[in-house]
Amino acid sequence: MITKTAPLRLPIANGQFANDEVVLDSPVVLAPMAGITNSAFRTLCREQGAGLFVSEMVTARALIERHPETMRLITPGVGETPRSVQLYAVDPTVVGKAIEILGAENLADHIDLNFGCPVPKVTRRGGGAALPYKRNLFSAIVGTSVKTAAQYGIPVTVKMRVGINSDHHTYLEAGKSAADLGVAWVALHARTAEQMYEGQADWSRIANLVEHLAPTGVPVLGNGDIWSGADGVRMMQETGCAGVVVGRGCLGRPWLFADLVAAFNGEETPTLPSLFEVRKIMYRHGELLVEFFESEGRAMRDLRKHMAWYLKGFSVPREIRAGFGMVSSLGELDHLLSQLEDQPYPIEIAEAPRGRRSHGRAVSLPDGWLNDPDEFATITIDDSVSGG
Ligand SMILES: Cc1cc2nc3c(=O)[nH]c(=O)nc-3n(C[C@H](O)[C@H](O)[C@H](O)COP(=O)(O)O)c2cc1C
Repeated sequence: MITKTAPLRLPIANGQFANDEVVLDSPVVLAPMAGITNSAFRTLCREQGAGLFVSEMVTARALIERHPETMRLITPGVGETPRSVQLYAVDPTVVGKAIEILGAENLADHIDLNFGCPVPKVTRRGGGAALPYKRNLFSAIVGTSVKTAAQYGIPVTVKMRVGINSDHHTYLEAGKSAADLGVAWVALHARTAEQMYEGQADWSRIANLVEHLAPTGVPVLGNGDIWSGADGVRMMQETGCAGVVVGRGCLGRPWLFADLVAAFNGEETPTLPSLFEVRKIMYRHGELLVEFFESEGRAMRDLRKHMAWYLKGFSVPREIRAGFGMVSSLGELDHLLSQLEDQPYPIEIAEAPRGRRSHGRAVSLPDGWLNDPDEFATITIDDSVSGG
């Protein structure tokens, strides 16, 4: 028996009236995914269902240096509200300046801080999922962020992993520290950095964090392996989390947000669009990308990576499939789509895992990183980061 969930209340400023509260009818958040969750993809997901849709991550340093690409990434889609920006930061001063820009220039309604990136080029410098281990640096970044954003009525949330590896879990201590410093929620991807995307996310960690943060009243959002509406409901029932964060499950399936909303309302039937219905969404995605990039060529290059996800499990002749992988204009996309034959959704694929499935590996860390969690580490470089 599924019980209707409580709405997720977020004290999200709307940019005009500080401390306004946005009540999300459905406790569903699109996970930030670098290279995926640009405003075109967010609009597509928004058109399919309710929730909060978080931007691609940008680095605090690139923001203060006003890199044109970064400024474009944080530009919201038409009518997009609340405007939710994910920041990657390794330095309290830099993140403070970046948030000053977002607040003073009214560029965001919600800021999420990324402490979950597991990729070697990031952890090797002590960033991403390696950072919460240095508890003083972590709390300085979160504390400065919350304080600076509060001047503009902007809530700050954090997203983290369970820890570095099975011997070095950081989520309970870092989650509590962030909660005490005033974040609006803590989202937990229930894997360690060492696990990358391997195996199943361990939802019992989410339950542990819910229990640990209960005295603070700060909500926990669960993340990892939600492939269906029923998974979202099950995660909330099993862990007691206040909401769910959905990543790979919506790749090629933006209607997953509608399925989650339906499941939270007690309806469990998954959406199974025919190929002709899917092709409408594919074309819409292409159009939105052209608006976003203001370049048909760039838009189509971006769209190519989504094609295999949209077509997964459908019977499509090899040469047409290959054509989608090289599509270079909306006209060509339309022509390729017109060659598809309608067919029902391949049910066995509907809720199957998709997207990154990288195997775990030892986490690269700076020399001596694990020697002293109290050391106030200095990490100077925070660019060339690509999410995770
Ligand atoms: C392609 C890709 C890019 C990602 N980029 C980011 C990112 O920029 N920031 C972040 O916090 N997490 C990022 N992640 C992690 C997701 O937000 C999410 O935590 C992870 O995929 C687990 O959720 P899932 O099982 O629903 O996919 C990324 C994941 C993928 C697959």
